[in-house]
Amino acid sequence: MAFRTMEWIAAEACLRLLDQRHLPGEVRYRDLRTPEAVAGAIRDMTVRGAPAIGVSAAYGMAQAAILAEAEGKPLGAALEAADAVLRASRPTAVNLFWALDRMGALWRGGADAARLLAEAREIEREDITVNDAIAAHALAILPVEEVVFFHHCNTGALAAGGVGTALGIIRRAHEAGRKVFAYLDETRPRLQGAKLSSFELMEYGVPHAIVVDGASAHVMRRRRVDAAVVGCDRVAANGDTANKIGTYNLALAAQDNGVPFYVACPTSTIDMATPDGAGIEIEERDGDEILQMGVTRIAPEGAGVFNPAFDVTPNRLISGLITEYGVIRPPFDVNLRQLFSREKALAARSGGA
Ligand code: MRU
Repeated sequence: MAFRTMEWIAAEACLRLLDQRHLPGEVRYRDLRTPEAVAGAIRDMTVRGAPAIGVSAAYGMAQAAILAEAEGKPLGAALEAADAVLRASRPTAVNLFWALDRMGALWRGGADAARLLAEAREIEREDITVNDAIAAHALAILPVEEVVFFHHCNTGALAAGGVGTALGIIRRAHEAGRKVFAYLDETRPRLQGAKLSSFELMEYGVPHAIVVDGASAHVMRRRRVDAAVVGCDRVAANGDTANKIGTYNLALAAQDNGVPFYVACPTSTIDMATPDGAGIEIEERDGDEILQMGVTRIAPEGAGVFNPAFDVTPNRLISGLITEYGVIRPPFDVNLRQLFSREKALAARSGGA
């Protein structure tokens, strides 16, 4: 593979991130040497995608401990400060808070820098396994010979520790020898579909077509589409799902055209402490992301703008949540509660809900 999304450089206690803002034109890396720098890279979207944000934040915490130990400073104060700056980087992806809570439980329990680094590595390793399990469960419910997908944003190896979630399903279906085609929403305004998902699928040799976000209903009406697959940034306890802006529209288009709508959903993205989608904070980003195309301004000076980065798809539009434990079907409130109470480890991750 011609890129590596993230890499921990142990000798320098440095997190090397692929700077996704320059893709697909340039594969350029940034070395982040402090938790403040890691938080900045999450905020400016050098690294993005819910699982990748969580893993990066975990390394940021390990880095804070390593730096404090090297300077002979108390770990507690350094980790408290790192936690605060990382927590404030982006509000919607719950993986960020999940990873910070997991690291926090350790250092508050007296863990040293080496233990925290081991935990960050473990979070990354688990994500790889979780990605593979999600793809395997998805393949079991999709057509076996030929499958046409609709995908939104970027949810692949650029967004996670392993192959990713929804785009990981598309990649694994192709690798399994199925005849795969994917329609990629371009995903305005930051164009993660056109820039990042297409970059990945070119890399894997998966045939695809980029379409404008507004084309989804038309494509589903006129052409074969077997399944819409998307990722998620936070899934509430009732299955309402926050994901990249435009996901809700895609779900509506899928419902109107009888296309199953699946959310690829690591349990680290399920927030059992939030009862429904209304409680999910939606990030609002700079209006220039909409008013400009690259550096070129496309709207009149003085134009008003509103730039929510995510939306919430109501649970009634979702056919299934594909987790690493299997496909969860409606009613999601009942079935998610069952899943979390069945898995002791999951109960701990759910914030005690
Ligand atoms: O703003 P982004 O690019 O971080 O948004 C990414 C998404 O919305 C993804 O669908 C989600 O994080 C899941 S990535 C496996």
